[in-house]
Amino acid sequence: MCKITAALFFAFIQISICQYQRDFIVFTAHLICDFSQFSYRIQYFEEDLFFHPDNMTRFDNIGLAKQGQVIANNFGVMYGDGFMDKNYEIYALITHNCTKNQKKMRQYKHDLETCSTEKSGCRKKFKLNITELGDEVNPESIENWMSKKSELNITELGDEVKPESIW
Ligand SMILES: *[C@@H]1O[C@H](CO)[C@@H](O)[C@H](O)[C@H]1NC(C)=O
Ligand SMILES: *[C@@H]1O[C@H](CO)[C@@H](O)[C@H](O)[C@H]1NC(C)=O
Ligand SMILES: *[C@@H]1O[C@H](CO)[C@@H](O)[C@H](O)[C@H]1NC(C)=O
Ligand SMILES: *[C@@H]1O[C@H](CO)[C@@H](O)[C@H](O)[C@H]1NC(C)=O
Repeated sequence: MCKITAALFFAFIQISICQYQRDFIVFTAHLICDFSQFSYRIQYFEEDLFFHPDNMTRFDNIGLAKQGQVIANNFGVMYGDGFMDKNYEIYALITHNCTKNQKKMRQYKHDLETCSTEKSGCRKKFKLNITELGDEVNPESIENWMSKKSELNITELGDEVKPESIW
């Protein structure tokens, strides 16, 4: 009885801690490709034991690279990973057309090192040669990705902050 109570007590404390926790995760992806022009989309997900993976960033990195490489930055804010787990399991899902087959794109899941939930964040940097990397998927156009991206309605979205001059 006493044991159960203690366990509940600690679970409660951990849940309370999690509520105040906030971790910033900064991503830098460096993609290189043997074809000079390629389009790409990079999404970041946090794997969950019980639920669907969560996308970690508000925007995907989307673009058309023109010199056989691109460096793309992104960031996410996380609020803990459940009270049993002390790490975020993170991966990047990269969809690209750096491939000979003009009728297909490729999609690659790139696992990143876990990020501790106890250090208020971390930095993830990786460099990847994506030439012919990943499974073939049906192609999607950048325009299609972009239009999904621009669907975000920012009306009254976000926390209120004091106004700052843009100069
Ligand atoms: C990938 O798609 C872009 C945009 O449609 C195109 O300009 C580029 O040539 C394609 N790259 C390859 C390697 O197929
Ligand atoms: C993840 O994507 C969904 C829909 O695309 C969006 O509603 C949600 O806000 C995104 N998550 C984050 C953390 O931005
Ligand atoms: C990238 O990968 C391709 C296919 O594996 C390989 O042929 C090529 O030499 C690599 N390029 C660089 C710059 O490492
Ligand atoms: C955007 O969001 C606001 C507030 O939630 C809502 O009133 C408005 O109808 C939305 N506009 C569109 C185009 O979805």
